[in-house]
Amino acid sequence: MDFYGMLVHMHSGLRWVILLLLIYAIINAARSISSGKYLKKDKMVNLFTMISLHVQLLIGLALYFINARGRVDFSEGWMSNAMSRFYGLEHIALMIVAIAIITIGRSRAEKKLEGTRNKHRAILMSYTIGLILILLSIPWPFWRWASFGAGLG
Ligand code: HEM
Repeated sequence: MDFYGMLVHMHSGLRWVILLLLIYAIINAARSISSGKYLKKDKMVNLFTMISLHVQLLIGLALYFINARGRVDFSEGWMSNAMSRFYGLEHIALMIVAIAIITIGRSRAEKKLEGTRNKHRAILMSYTIGLILILLSIPWPFWRWASFGAGLG
């Protein structure tokens, strides 16, 4: 497998780690709201989730600029082509917004907000919104806009 193929493989596999970590962090925040504590364990779960997203962002940026499979294609009429619109705009834009919301939510929980209840709430809100956006912009094989090729998921 070439270098680009390895990057796609990592980007594709890391999705599952990210989804599991996000779900775990969300359940953890929801269950901890009334605990009156913001433990080291909570800090670590929220931090690792965010780090995995930042690693995914870096791999994604490398894929976007190397673009060895030509999926990002701004030639004429790219907006009316489902695949070039998806990879050139929808996937990158929604993922960056999701990662920004999660990063800001975690930073508020860690630094700005007082009170453990507010910290867990900030995580719950921002990680849930992020998860929804991420689920919407993964090229699932069954998604309408990903129907251009088999085996994309
Ligand atoms: C949580 C964030 C992200 C997730 C879960 C995610 C997930 C995925 C998945 C599942 C694929 C299909 C891989 C395959 O063909 O097997 C993909 C492709 C791709 N992603 Fe992402 N992605 C994320 C963020 C990003 C970001 C931020 C960028 C750009 C800056 C990006 C750029 C790309 C590109 C260019 C491809 C197409 C690669 C190719 O087939 O040539 N991704 N992504």
